Amino acid sequence: MELYLDTADVAAVKRLARVLPLQGVTTNPSIVAKAGISLWEVLPALQDALGGEGKLFAQVIAAQADEMVKEAELLVKRVPGLVVKVPTTVEGLAAMKQLKIAGIPTLGTAVYGATQGLLAALAGAEYVAPYVNRLDAQGGDGIQMVQDLQQLLTLHAPQSKVLAASFRTPHQAMSCLLAGCEAITLPVDVTEQLLTTPAVNAAIATFEKDWQGAFGSLSL
Ligand code: E4P
Repeated sequence: MELYLDTADVAAVKRLARVLPLQGVTTNPSIVAKAGISLWEVLPALQDALGGEGKLFAQVIAAQADEMVKEAELLVKRVPGLVVKVPTTVEGLAAMKQLKIAGIPTLGTAVYGATQGLLAALAGAEYVAPYVNRLDAQGGDGIQMVQDLQQLLTLHAPQSKVLAASFRTPHQAMSCLLAGCEAITLPVDVTEQLLTTPAVNAAIATFEKDWQGAFGSLSL
């Protein structure tokens, strides 16, 4: 599987890359805006934080296909190897088709339905990003969407991968992996929840207390 962080927090990427087998970092316009530095500064900084290796994802801002294609070309010129996130709109699908022909890898983003995600894959997107928590938050079933999308891609567009996105809880993320999706991008807070389990900390604290009580130190 491929594990990504969904953030532009360079310090967090550096900290978590020490512990996790990160494949790279995904961003979106809101994430970059929140970081408070330009896209052109943050992308190389994220690459450095990953140790010079790893895949980066950045999104186009334009709404028309031809402009999206121009922005995508600029992105991959400035950051070779970057995967361009393109909203899965009518214009976005047209841009994905053009970018596929141009050999520029894309991710179909802002996916709120399995059929919409299939269209991105059929347009040539290498990755498709269903928004799990955002769909849950509006009364839908994000996990069911991922299950359906995974099945559709397996049957009809096996060259594309589900890269599940938009999470608030580790449980949502695990459910997507159990549904068979091959890639996942997690926000920093959800990743930290995955790494820190109160019951584990409590068990270790008891081991330390017992050892200290018996032998007076915390070493072997
Ligand atoms: C994915 O493409 C999006 O950048 C992202 O995962 C959306 O997540 P959010 O719902 O936490 O903003």
